[in-house]
Amino acid sequence: MYSERVMDHFMNPRNMGEIPDADGVGEVGNPACGDIMRITLRIEENRIVDAKFKTFGCAAAIASSSMATELIKGKTIEEALAVTNRAVAEALEGLPPQKLHCSVLAEEGIQKAIEDYRARHGTPTANEG
Ligand code: FES
Repeated sequence: MYSERVMDHFMNPRNMGEIPDADGVGEVGNPACGDIMRITLRIEENRIVDAKFKTFGCAAAIASSSMATELIKGKTIEEALAVTNRAVAEALEGLPPQKLHCSVLAEEGIQKAIEDYRARHGTPTANEG
């Protein structure tokens, strides 16, 4: 039922773990299945220089977190916010329709971690400085 890419990221997850003293932390859960995902980010000069995840969830959720952290590393905050769950699923060569919601956790986790970063550091505005 899963693509080879999904199985690869499930069996050999990238970026698993937690960044100590992360600049942004996002924890999201899916009440329907009870799965939980925690994303931690290192952000320097508006760029995501490192991303890690801890996911207590299904194979699709683990593969999605692995792929999502790969996709956002090196991106600016704005670029990372534009990474949708569809983009994650596409990068995984597709997810079964009934498993698409699992990739939503990854999108939400990234957004929450960035929100947390912005709340802690203040969102820079155009007329600042
Ligand atoms: Fe819960 Fe996949 S079944 S995230």
